[in-house]
Amino acid sequence: MIAPYLLDTWYAAMWSADLPAGALVPRTILDEPLVFWRTSGGEVAVLEDRCPHRFAPLSMGRILGDHLQCGYHGLEFDVNGACVNNPHPNRAVPPGTFARTHPALERHSIVWIWMGDSQPDTSTLPDYGLIDTAPADQVSKRDYLLMAANYELIADNLLDLSHASYLHAGLLGNDAMVDTRTDVERQGNTLWVSRFTPDVPVPQLYDLMFRQDGRNVDIWTRIRWNAPGCLLNDTGACAPNTDRSTGTGLYGIHLLTPETATTTHYHFCAVRQNTVQRDPAADEHIRGQLSELRHRAFEEQDRAMIEAQQRNISRSNGDLRPAPLSVDAGIVRYHRIIDELRLPA
Ligand code: FES
Ligand SMILES: [Fe+2]
Repeated sequence: MIAPYLLDTWYAAMWSADLPAGALVPRTILDEPLVFWRTSGGEVAVLEDRCPHRFAPLSMGRILGDHLQCGYHGLEFDVNGACVNNPHPNRAVPPGTFARTHPALERHSIVWIWMGDSQPDTSTLPDYGLIDTAPADQVSKRDYLLMAANYELIADNLLDLSHASYLHAGLLGNDAMVDTRTDVERQGNTLWVSRFTPDVPVPQLYDLMFRQDGRNVDIWTRIRWNAPGCLLNDTGACAPNTDRSTGTGLYGIHLLTPETATTTHYHFCAVRQNTVQRDPAADEHIRGQLSELRHRAFEEQDRAMIEAQQRNISRSNGDLRPAPLSVDAGIVRYHRIIDELRLPA
């Protein structure tokens, strides 16, 4: 069930704000222990978190200008991983003494890392430009969870929009939304999974965002997927039979990066769209309630279910095969794209 990692692709390593100047931030990605820091010019640098001398974590060292000094015996490395100083007698650096590195860059307030050996391709970075252009008060906290599950289980959860009627009953979905068609559309290596549910009783989160009157709504959800686990969920509600521009909703940003085969760095935040004009105090109150409801849906409901799924899968001898339903169409399609990307060019 657990496939090998896709290497020649971008992974979200952390929010830019989680890498302040002067800090050495250790983070394991695809089973590889790494350390991130910033050069004197503020550029992101990344090395394997294992000194080639006697394997101490470099994250226990210190930054000296544009070099990282190992905290154990003081070898110094530059941003390319070359050992540039041995302070000990004879000062010789044995051949092959270097720390592995990976290309990294920042975009949309996210630190991205390219884990493969091929030339990094910035044209494949997923577009999260809406984080940059939205007014700051419309962007939620840039959040993080370490999930005890393979990243595919979380991507599956996000692309299976049907679970809202059960796992998030009342909060994000309800019985009236079950009989909704799932549409899947592929453009290049980008996938969109959409559902549109007309004239249904309003789930709690949508009511809070929209009119707060409990009356029926049309609900749209259109979620974009880019390899291997970068998602953008455009969802909202409007009055039945009206244009969605008269409604309101949010964009959910979900970034899944394997730490190991059974643990995932999950970065997420939300950007409000078409907010209804209210007084600022009421808006503030609604934002607080929204993040509370989203927290409940992710942490108490999705997380509990996904981690329990992982425990069941880990307990098996690896021969489990899912029984695909119509609601799994998006999941089947994104796995196909990952398989294609894994093939040598
Ligand atoms: S382990 Fe790093 S210098 Fe010795
Ligand atoms: Fe969910």
